Amino acid sequence: MLHRRGTILAAAAKLEVVQFLPETAAACIEAIDEERNLSQVVALVETDPALTANLLKCANSIYYTPFLGRAVGTVREALIRLGLVECKKLVIALGVVRTLRGRGYANWPPGFWEHSMAVAGMTIRLMQRRRGAGLDRHDLSRIYTASLLHDLGILVLVQVSPIGYREVVQQLGVRARVAVCDVEEEVLGVRHTEVGALVAMHWKLPPLFEHLLGDHHREAVDFNDLPLSALYLADQLSLRIAEDQAGPMLAPVPGHRTLPSNERALLAEELGRSNQIVSLVA
Ligand SMILES: [Fe+2]
Ligand SMILES: [Fe+2]
Repeated sequence: MLHRRGTILAAAAKLEVVQFLPETAAACIEAIDEERNLSQVVALVETDPALTANLLKCANSIYYTPFLGRAVGTVREALIRLGLVECKKLVIALGVVRTLRGRGYANWPPGFWEHSMAVAGMTIRLMQRRRGAGLDRHDLSRIYTASLLHDLGILVLVQVSPIGYREVVQQLGVRARVAVCDVEEEVLGVRHTEVGALVAMHWKLPPLFEHLLGDHHREAVDFNDLPLSALYLADQLSLRIAEDQAGPMLAPVPGHRTLPSNERALLAEELGRSNQIVSLVA
């Protein structure tokens, strides 16, 4: 097990591209070719957490930040820093790397996109409800993007250990109400939170990403930490609501707090919206 853990962490640390959906890439290239406005391209990229992660990584690479500028934490900033033409070239190049290096995205857990997008939307809604309108728009966009990527570690594990992660999914299917992180630990010796935080650090994403990706399954979440606690609640809500629809991968973790029904209704709305958006590009 220790050997497996070491191999997985070493592969994750060296990872250059997270495999993404060819449909999103094609839609994104088309939008740039048709000179659609920046917001439309941002919205398309944000339907795919993996493509979002890759573009953030590129925008934060030394090549694009020669003077070590501020770390980029939103898709809009990444597209502005890269430029849309460069972004199109990158999407094509990343797609070539993906094709050469393997399969991966076909093994994505069911409901992954919808879950990621619903959690991101709900995290922001929860933050606004708690803090009102006083939140900085830029901070919110950054938190939205980090929340969209909160389960990036799962994609990385699927990619670096496809057979091992298939076993995780199988185990989740036969064992009732068991936490994803616990099964990952048993089968692979490593949790998706640790792997996500490691990749965020290697890809030089803003510190918020390492925090949210690494800590969103912590048992004792500090409710004064607004972004983390909002993400935690949104994630748990999504897991509960998706239980019947998405199968074992998104099953809820036992022992978590019960939440008011109006917040469940809000998340159900987010899930519905995410499903609609995904169906546009997938
Ligand atoms: Fe997670
Ligand atoms: Fe999650």
